[in-house]
Amino acid sequence: MSLEAVKKEIDANSHRFIERLRDAVAIPSVSADPERRSDVLHMIDWAAKHLEALGADCQQIPNGTQQLPDGTEIVLPPVLFAELGKDPKKKTLLVYGHLDVQPAEKSDGWNTDPFVLTEKDGKLYGRGSSDDKGPVLAWMNAIEALKKLNIDIPVNIKFCLEGMEENGSEGLEDILTREKDGYLKDVDFCCISDSQWLGKTKPCLTYGLRGICYYFVEIQGVSQDLHSGIFGGSVYEPMNDLLWVLSQLSAVDGKIHIPEIHQMVAPVKEGERELYESIDFDIDEYRKDLGAFDLTTMDKAELLMRRWRYPSLSVHGIEGAFSSPGAKTVIPAKVVGKFSIRIVPNMKPNEVDDAVVAHLNKLWSQRGSPNRFKAYPGHEGGKCWSADPADPNYQAGARAMKAVFGVEPDLVREGCSIPITITFQELTGKNVLLLPICASDDMAHSQNEKMNVRNYIEGTKVMAAYLMELGKL
Ligand code: BES
Ligand code: MN
Ligand code: MN
Repeated sequence: MSLEAVKKEIDANSHRFIERLRDAVAIPSVSADPERRSDVLHMIDWAAKHLEALGADCQQIPNGTQQLPDGTEIVLPPVLFAELGKDPKKKTLLVYGHLDVQPAEKSDGWNTDPFVLTEKDGKLYGRGSSDDKGPVLAWMNAIEALKKLNIDIPVNIKFCLEGMEENGSEGLEDILTREKDGYLKDVDFCCISDSQWLGKTKPCLTYGLRGICYYFVEIQGVSQDLHSGIFGGSVYEPMNDLLWVLSQLSAVDGKIHIPEIHQMVAPVKEGERELYESIDFDIDEYRKDLGAFDLTTMDKAELLMRRWRYPSLSVHGIEGAFSSPGAKTVIPAKVVGKFSIRIVPNMKPNEVDDAVVAHLNKLWSQRGSPNRFKAYPGHEGGKCWSADPADPNYQAGARAMKAVFGVEPDLVREGCSIPITITFQELTGKNVLLLPICASDDMAHSQNEKMNVRNYIEGTKVMAAYLMELGKL
């Protein structure tokens, strides 16, 4: 049967597929919030139920506990393994995705309730609609459509779905390592749909991701907050110290002032810059969409390289800082600064951690403050990853995109991280394809996250087409 019939079947069911996404978005599976842990567990059950209905054999792999900063332990969500088809004559595809989401509150500035999927102008607003519930459900939709048409899916599919991705995928690497010669043994290709297109309309395949290392800088000065009028001038102030330290880390254009970092970056290969030159990307539209006054460079290739293949440093926040409207004249007693560095080949998280912490300690000794200073890395660093885009797995992905969108996808990298990607590559020894179906303006992690109806439905078709293409390899 032809792909045309599959496309028709998917179109005919688009309303139901949107309802399915509505159900998933309604479960606030925020992995960072211990209070929401039961919702994450519920979300895993929900996905297992839907995969079982498609005929999959599901197993929830226990993942031990997570220790919270205050010492209490809470259960980590199990990892969901779901196997669809066990035909030894067929090849096996491993699909990874995540069912947890970033935090969201209406009061953050959402126009609608983040956990009520709201359709407007062809867009489906809701937390997780794009990252990553929409894409995970698209796999289910695609399989359902193929089954309804009695099309024999030409590969066995093994799902690995987790509930802690937005929190560093704690425990997943250990589980997968144990399964190297078990669940992962006969995998022939891997596919992850958890990235996005470079623009809003043209499809891409992603062959590289940056990793991430996260840092905390704690400074304690006095035993409680003080009135700045009464005590200002007499004490060494932690917030002033912290701002000085953080301000030493990078230049106005983002250049990182930690010399050891740059020595770790893989040199640019001959012909590499040309790859970036050839990508369809409108730098001025990008600037305008961001509402940015200027960008750190207006050279297209250089900008893409700064996003994807060079490290960047971002300061995220300060715990203990006064951040409400109005003027409060306080000297905070203790502050914790938070920043991260996105890492690229050949930077290793451990080496980056050592260099960054040593640098912070050196800065602190230059500051000459008597306050108590502690700099340390946060959750396990996510490793960076890149794949060979010439692999047949990528060719199958490209043919699937072409069959649905009518154009050859661009080959792109990403500045973001999916920490477990390289683990699949290393443990299976097989190629990992990142097959994005989301648009660049979906606003993952931000207010008003959305997925376009077009991306969700055509993305479902891409996955069906990809499964059919894999059968031809
Ligand atoms: N899906 C994203 C990563 C992503 C986004 C890749 C856009 C490509 C394009 C993933 O869910 C994510 O948010 N990753 C975190 C990882 C971190 C919490 C360890 C990130 O990159 O900040
Ligand atoms: Mn994601
Ligand atoms: Mn995310």
